[in-house]
Amino acid sequence: MNGSESRTSPVGFDREHSRRDFLKTAGWATAAISAAGIGGFGIASQFAKAQGGAVNYPTYQGLGDVAILSFALQLERLEGTFYANGVNAGIFSGPTLTQIATIRDHEMAHVDALTSTLQKLGAPVPPAPNLTYPPGTFSDPGAFLKLAATFEPVGVGAYGGAAAALESKELLAAALSIHNVECMHRVAINILNGVQPPNNLAFEPTLPFGAVTQAVAPFGVTPG
Ligand SMILES: [Fe+2]
Ligand SMILES: [Fe+2]
Repeated sequence: MNGSESRTSPVGFDREHSRRDFLKTAGWATAAISAAGIGGFGIASQFAKAQGGAVNYPTYQGLGDVAILSFALQLERLEGTFYANGVNAGIFSGPTLTQIATIRDHEMAHVDALTSTLQKLGAPVPPAPNLTYPPGTFSDPGAFLKLAATFEPVGVGAYGGAAAALESKELLAAALSIHNVECMHRVAINILNGVQPPNNLAFEPTLPFGAVTQAVAPFGVTPG
């Protein structure tokens, strides 16, 4: 399957759900987020506090599907903009450029799928974050690829960490299809970085919600 096919065949996030489930999920998340005042992370922090002050809430449990999808959208925007800038920077060529452009297309397809799913849920689509990347990211190919090697495992870990908390099995299946592609991005970036062997994990680690929010905060991404 080529890149254009995968863009026109989204992962199924926007398949029909039961209307009752939509309303239940969207309503719960909206009420919870406004009660916390500071978005999904507030909810997670409250749970963590109730559990004895743990710094990182261990799972996304309790956030609700809408909050999870909204945060996933922001992560995809972080990745999509990163790769788009990398392509436009003119610092790559040949097969490397082709691979980076293909990953960009995947991330943009993920952004589109998550956006349309939120819209079908009747949930607000969060505004695009003011993204910021370290100086030199788009002028130094090595710096770019090094940063890519940190973004991809964060994406993989976020989807893996959120999986058990998704209430809708249909959304879970769709998230799994994105997670799989993020794993392949991780390996593709390993190849570009000369990591040997590039496919080097029997199990992809999951990341706690707090670890993900901490990892992406410096780039301007916040949950909620
Ligand atoms: Fe993605
Ligand atoms: Fe990715």
